[in-house]
Parts: sequence; C-alpha cells; structure tokens
Amino acid sequence: SLQRIKQKGTLVVGMSADYPPYEFTTKEHGKTKYVGFEVSLVKQLAKDIGVKLVIKNMDFDSLLVALETGKIDVIASGMNITSERKKSVDFSDTYYSGDSYFLINKSDKDKLVNAKSFNGKT
Ligand code: ARG
Repeated sequence: SLQRIKQKGTLVVGMSADYPPYEFTTKEHGKTKYVGFEVSLVKQLAKDIGVKLVIKNMDFDSLLVALETGKIDVIASGMNITSERKKSVDFSDTYYSGDSYFLINKSDKDKLVNAKSFNGKT
C-alpha cells in the first residue's frame, strides 16, 4: 500500500530495461544508467510520494511474479492490459496509448516518403 511505501521510504519499481524508448540503459563513466520515458515517470512518482526510487531490472517474464510476491511495489515496463494479467494484478489508468504520429503538410505527402527524404533538400 501507499502507506507501507511511505513507511519504508522507498518505491521499488520493477522493469525490464530493454525496451526503448520506454526503458533502457546507457553507460555513463562506466556506470549503468536507466533512461526512457517510464524511468522519468517513476522518478517523478517517487518524488511526488516523497520517497527514494529503487529500480530493479529483471526479465520481463519475472515481473508479475516479483510483484505478486512483494519483491517490487510497481511494474513500469510498457506492459499492456490483458485479461490474463488482470487476474493477478491491478492496472493503473493508461498513461500512454502507443498511438503517436509525425505529421507533415499534405503538399509534402509524395515527397516525404522515407527517412532519406528528410535530408532538408526536398
Ligand atoms: N507491450 C508488450 C507486453 O505488454 C511488451 C512489453 C515489453 N516490455 C519490456 N520492458 N521489455 O507484453
């Protein structure tokens, strides 16, 4: 519960950091860093609750069991709702639907057809 998280002073988030741009790792001065928009999201979440963030990186397939056994408090891993998963865990409201688009001018419709056509000359 939220009260338990506040009492222990940490929000333990489980993720499979192999899924850019959701969550992935980079190396900075030899140190592994977690990055991605869900990493930003849970950093802010821990801040809002007023606790320290702890990220546990694991196989995607281990996440649900880790949550059920209390090893982690939350999963943030680009995990979609399925009726099977809903049997064992509780999903939050959607924060990202995955439907994102670039938009271009209609008059460029036939010119901007692939990555190459974005070289500035078209
Ligand atoms: N969206 C897919 C699912 O819910 C795959 C998510 C994989 N996520 C990851 N962090 N590897 O099953």
